[in-house]
Amino acid sequence: MEPNPQNPSNIGIIMDGNGRWAQSRNLPRAAGHKRGAENVREAITCASLANAKSLSLFAFSTENWKRPASEVDYIMSLVVEYLAKEIDELKEKNVVIKFIGDISALPIKCRSSIADSEEKTKGNSGLAVNIALNYGARAEITRAAKQLAQDALASKITIGSIGEESISARLYDSSVPDLDLVIRTGAEKRLSNFMLWQAAYAEIYFTDILWPDFGRNEFRDAILFYQGRQRRYGGIDEG
Ligand code: FPP
Repeated sequence: MEPNPQNPSNIGIIMDGNGRWAQSRNLPRAAGHKRGAENVREAITCASLANAKSLSLFAFSTENWKRPASEVDYIMSLVVEYLAKEIDELKEKNVVIKFIGDISALPIKCRSSIADSEEKTKGNSGLAVNIALNYGARAEITRAAKQLAQDALASKITIGSIGEESISARLYDSSVPDLDLVIRTGAEKRLSNFMLWQAAYAEIYFTDILWPDFGRNEFRDAILFYQGRQRRYGGIDEG
Protein backbone atom coordinates (compact mmCIF):
# COMPACT_ATOMS: atom_id res chain seq x y z
CA MET A 1 0.00 0.00 0.00
CA GLU A 2 1.34 3.40 -1.01
CA PRO A 3 1.79 6.21 1.51
CA ASN A 4 -1.18 8.58 1.54
CA PRO A 5 -0.55 11.39 -0.96
CA GLN A 6 -3.58 13.34 0.21
CA ASN A 7 -3.77 16.22 2.60
CA PRO A 8 -5.81 15.44 5.72
CA SER A 9 -9.38 16.71 5.38
CA ASN A 10 -10.17 16.83 9.08
CA ILE A 11 -7.51 18.00 11.49
CA GLY A 12 -7.59 18.27 15.29
CA ILE A 13 -5.05 20.16 17.37
CA ILE A 14 -4.27 19.83 21.07
CA MET A 15 -2.74 23.26 21.63
CA ASP A 16 -0.34 22.53 24.48
CA GLY A 17 2.63 24.43 25.84
CA ASN A 18 1.39 27.99 26.35
CA GLY A 19 2.49 28.04 30.00
CA ARG A 20 5.99 26.73 29.27
CA TRP A 21 6.38 29.17 26.37
CA ALA A 22 5.72 32.03 28.80
CA GLN A 23 7.79 30.62 31.66
CA SER A 24 10.83 30.16 29.41
CA ARG A 25 10.65 33.91 28.75
CA ASN A 26 10.08 34.83 32.41
CA LEU A 27 6.58 35.96 31.51
CA PRO A 28 3.35 35.16 33.37
CA ARG A 29 1.43 32.11 32.06
CA ALA A 30 -1.26 34.49 30.80
CA ALA A 31 1.19 35.85 28.22
CA GLY A 32 1.53 32.34 26.80
CA HIS A 33 -2.23 31.93 26.52
CA LYS A 34 -2.45 35.31 24.81
CA ARG A 35 0.13 34.26 22.22
CA GLY A 36 -1.61 30.90 21.95
CA ALA A 37 -4.93 32.57 21.19
CA GLU A 38 -3.23 34.78 18.58
CA ASN A 39 -1.82 31.65 16.95
CA VAL A 40 -5.32 30.28 16.33
CA ARG A 41 -5.55 32.75 13.45
CA GLU A 42 -2.43 31.23 11.85
CA ALA A 43 -3.73 27.69 12.34
CA ILE A 44 -6.97 28.57 10.54
CA THR A 45 -4.99 30.09 7.65
CA CYS A 46 -2.79 26.97 7.44
CA ALA A 47 -5.80 24.64 7.48
CA SER A 48 -7.44 26.67 4.70
CA LEU A 49 -4.26 26.64 2.61
CA ALA A 50 -4.07 22.86 3.06
CA ASN A 51 -7.66 22.59 1.76
CA ALA A 52 -8.86 21.00 4.99
CA LYS A 53 -12.60 20.65 5.53
CA SER A 54 -12.45 21.01 9.28
CA LEU A 55 -10.12 22.14 12.03
CA SER A 56 -10.97 21.12 15.60
CA LEU A 57 -9.12 22.95 18.36
CA PHE A 58 -8.87 21.89 22.01
CA ALA A 59 -9.18 25.20 23.87
CA PHE A 60 -10.36 24.17 27.35
CA SER A 61 -10.91 20.71 28.81
CA THR A 62 -13.33 19.60 31.51
CA GLU A 63 -10.17 19.00 33.60
CA ASN A 64 -8.85 22.56 33.10
CA TRP A 65 -11.21 23.86 35.84
CA LYS A 66 -8.57 22.57 38.29
CA ARG A 67 -6.40 25.56 37.33
CA PRO A 68 -6.41 28.76 39.42
CA ALA A 69 -9.65 30.72 38.87
CA SER A 70 -7.68 33.68 37.51
CA GLU A 71 -6.18 31.51 34.74
CA VAL A 72 -9.57 29.96 33.89
CA ASP A 73 -11.17 33.42 33.73
CA TYR A 74 -8.37 34.67 31.52
CA ILE A 75 -8.69 31.80 29.03
CA MET A 76 -12.47 32.42 28.83
CA SER A 77 -11.87 36.13 28.28
CA LEU A 78 -9.42 35.31 25.48
CA VAL A 79 -12.07 33.27 23.70
CA VAL A 80 -14.54 36.18 23.94
CA GLU A 81 -11.84 38.62 22.80
CA TYR A 82 -10.81 36.35 19.92
CA LEU A 83 -14.37 36.04 18.64
CA ALA A 84 -15.03 39.77 18.94
CA LYS A 85 -11.87 40.53 16.96
CA GLU A 86 -12.04 37.83 14.29
CA ILE A 87 -15.65 36.87 13.66
CA ASP A 88 -16.37 39.35 10.85
CA GLU A 89 -13.28 38.27 8.93
CA LEU A 90 -14.08 34.58 9.56
CA LYS A 91 -17.57 35.17 8.21
CA GLU A 92 -16.08 36.89 5.19
CA LYS A 93 -13.72 33.95 4.61
CA ASN A 94 -16.64 31.49 4.53
CA VAL A 95 -15.56 29.79 7.81
CA VAL A 96 -18.20 28.04 9.92
CA ILE A 97 -17.55 28.40 13.66
CA LYS A 98 -18.92 25.78 16.03
CA PHE A 99 -18.30 24.99 19.66
CA ILE A 100 -18.32 21.51 21.16
CA GLY A 101 -18.41 20.83 24.91
CA ASP A 102 -20.65 21.65 27.85
CA ILE A 103 -21.27 25.26 26.89
CA SER A 104 -24.12 25.59 29.43
CA ALA A 105 -21.57 25.68 32.29
CA LEU A 106 -19.65 28.65 30.87
CA PRO A 107 -19.91 32.31 31.95
CA ILE A 108 -22.83 34.16 30.34
CA LYS A 109 -20.55 36.52 28.39
CA CYS A 110 -18.82 33.53 26.86
CA ARG A 111 -22.10 31.80 26.01
CA SER A 112 -23.54 34.81 24.27
CA SER A 113 -20.43 35.44 22.18
CA ILE A 114 -20.42 31.73 21.22
CA ALA A 115 -24.10 31.87 20.19
CA ASP A 116 -23.49 35.06 18.24
CA SER A 117 -20.49 33.61 16.36
CA GLU A 118 -22.27 30.37 15.52
CA GLU A 119 -25.28 32.32 14.29
CA LYS A 120 -23.17 34.70 12.17
CA THR A 121 -21.31 31.91 10.36
CA LYS A 122 -23.94 29.18 10.15
CA GLY A 123 -24.78 30.00 6.52
CA ASN A 124 -21.15 29.58 5.42
CA SER A 125 -19.89 26.54 3.56
CA GLY A 126 -16.10 26.64 3.86
CA LEU A 127 -13.69 25.43 6.55
CA ALA A 128 -15.49 24.28 9.71
CA VAL A 129 -13.64 25.43 12.83
CA ASN A 130 -14.79 23.42 15.85
CA ILE A 131 -13.62 24.88 19.13
CA ALA A 132 -13.67 22.37 21.99
CA LEU A 133 -14.43 24.37 25.12
CA ASN A 134 -15.26 22.78 28.46
CA TYR A 135 -14.89 19.64 26.43
CA GLY A 136 -14.08 16.05 27.44
CA ALA A 137 -14.48 13.09 25.12
CA ARG A 138 -15.66 10.73 27.85
CA ALA A 139 -18.32 13.23 28.94
CA GLU A 140 -19.37 13.55 25.29
CA ILE A 141 -19.72 9.78 24.84
CA THR A 142 -21.45 9.36 28.24
CA ARG A 143 -23.96 12.04 27.28
CA ALA A 144 -24.67 10.20 24.02
CA ALA A 145 -25.13 6.91 25.92
CA LYS A 146 -27.62 8.58 28.29
CA GLN A 147 -29.60 9.97 25.35
CA LEU A 148 -29.69 6.52 23.75
CA ALA A 149 -30.95 5.00 27.02
CA GLN A 150 -33.66 7.67 27.26
CA ASP A 151 -34.72 7.13 23.65
CA ALA A 152 -34.88 3.36 24.22
CA LEU A 153 -36.92 3.81 27.42
CA ALA A 154 -39.31 6.08 25.54
CA SER A 155 -39.56 3.39 22.80
CA LYS A 156 -38.24 5.86 20.21
CA ILE A 157 -35.55 3.33 19.25
CA THR A 158 -34.97 -0.39 19.81
CA ILE A 159 -31.81 -1.71 21.46
CA GLY A 160 -31.16 -3.76 18.33
CA SER A 161 -31.07 -0.66 16.16
CA ILE A 162 -28.23 0.93 18.16
CA GLY A 163 -25.02 1.12 16.18
CA GLU A 164 -22.00 3.38 15.88
CA GLU A 165 -24.05 5.88 13.86
CA SER A 166 -26.51 6.17 16.77
CA ILE A 167 -23.67 7.33 19.01
CA SER A 168 -22.14 9.62 16.36
CA ALA A 169 -25.55 11.26 15.90
CA ARG A 170 -25.74 12.10 19.62
CA LEU A 171 -22.29 13.65 20.08
CA TYR A 172 -22.13 17.39 20.82
CA ASP A 173 -22.33 18.17 17.11
CA SER A 174 -23.17 15.32 14.78
CA SER A 175 -21.69 17.18 11.81
CA VAL A 176 -18.18 17.08 13.30
CA PRO A 177 -16.43 14.41 11.23
CA ASP A 178 -13.92 11.72 12.12
CA LEU A 179 -10.42 13.14 12.34
CA ASP A 180 -7.71 12.19 9.85
CA LEU A 181 -4.88 13.85 11.74
CA VAL A 182 -4.44 14.89 15.37
CA ILE A 183 -1.55 17.23 16.14
CA ARG A 184 -0.37 17.64 19.74
CA THR A 185 2.16 20.35 20.45
CA GLY A 186 4.13 20.78 23.67
CA ALA A 187 5.99 17.43 23.91
CA GLU A 188 3.41 15.35 25.80
CA LYS A 189 2.42 12.13 24.06
CA ARG A 190 -1.19 11.52 24.97
CA LEU A 191 -4.69 12.39 23.76
CA SER A 192 -5.88 13.87 27.08
CA ASN A 193 -9.57 13.07 26.48
CA PHE A 194 -9.68 14.93 23.14
CA MET A 195 -12.21 13.65 20.57
CA LEU A 196 -11.60 9.98 21.40
CA TRP A 197 -14.56 8.81 19.32
CA GLN A 198 -13.68 10.90 16.28
CA ALA A 199 -9.93 10.12 16.54
CA ALA A 200 -10.40 6.33 16.40
CA TYR A 201 -8.44 6.01 13.13
CA ALA A 202 -6.58 9.33 13.14
CA GLU A 203 -2.88 9.55 12.51
CA ILE A 204 -1.31 11.21 15.53
CA TYR A 205 1.53 13.71 15.27
CA PHE A 206 3.39 14.67 18.41
CA THR A 207 5.82 17.56 18.40
CA ASP A 208 7.98 19.22 21.05
CA ILE A 209 7.19 22.64 19.58
CA LEU A 210 5.16 24.73 22.05
CA TRP A 211 1.80 25.95 20.72
CA PRO A 212 2.69 29.67 20.40
CA ASP A 213 5.69 28.63 18.23
CA PHE A 214 3.66 26.30 16.00
CA GLY A 215 3.62 28.27 12.76
CA ARG A 216 3.36 27.64 9.04
CA ASN A 217 6.54 25.52 8.69
CA GLU A 218 5.58 23.36 11.67
CA PHE A 219 2.09 22.88 10.23
CA ARG A 220 3.64 21.81 6.91
CA ASP A 221 5.80 19.25 8.76
CA ALA A 222 2.66 17.76 10.32
CA ILE A 223 1.02 17.49 6.88
CA LEU A 224 4.15 15.84 5.47
CA PHE A 225 4.07 13.34 8.36
CA TYR A 226 0.46 12.53 7.47
CA GLN A 227 1.26 12.09 3.80
CA GLY A 228 3.95 9.59 4.72
CA ARG A 229 1.60 7.39 6.73
CA GLN A 230 -0.20 4.34 5.37
CA ARG A 231 -3.83 4.30 6.42
CA ARG A 232 -5.07 0.74 6.75
CA TYR A 233 -8.13 1.11 9.02
CA GLY A 234 -7.43 -2.31 10.51
CA GLY A 235 -6.75 -3.98 7.16
CA ILE A 236 -3.40 -5.31 5.94
CA ASP A 237 -0.78 -4.10 3.48
CA GLU A 238 -1.61 -5.91 0.25
CA GLY A 239 1.13 -4.20 -1.77
C1 FPP B 1 -2.46 24.39 27.07
O1 FPP B 1 -1.28 25.01 27.48
C2 FPP B 1 -3.40 25.40 26.65
C3 FPP B 1 -4.61 25.65 27.25
C4 FPP B 1 -5.12 24.87 28.38
C5 FPP B 1 -5.46 26.75 26.79
C6 FPP B 1 -5.52 26.91 25.32
C7 FPP B 1 -6.19 28.19 25.05
C8 FPP B 1 -5.89 29.03 24.05
C9 FPP B 1 -4.86 28.75 23.03
C10 FPP B 1 -6.54 30.35 23.97
C11 FPP B 1 -8.00 30.38 23.68
C12 FPP B 1 -8.48 29.70 22.46
C13 FPP B 1 -9.13 30.27 21.42
C14 FPP B 1 -9.88 29.42 20.49
C15 FPP B 1 -9.09 31.70 21.12
P1 FPP B 1 -0.79 24.85 28.99
O2 FPP B 1 -1.25 26.01 29.78
O3 FPP B 1 -1.25 23.52 29.53
O4 FPP B 1 0.75 24.86 28.80
P2 FPP B 1 1.84 24.15 29.71
O5 FPP B 1 1.63 22.67 29.54
O6 FPP B 1 3.12 24.61 29.12
O7 FPP B 1 1.63 24.63 31.12
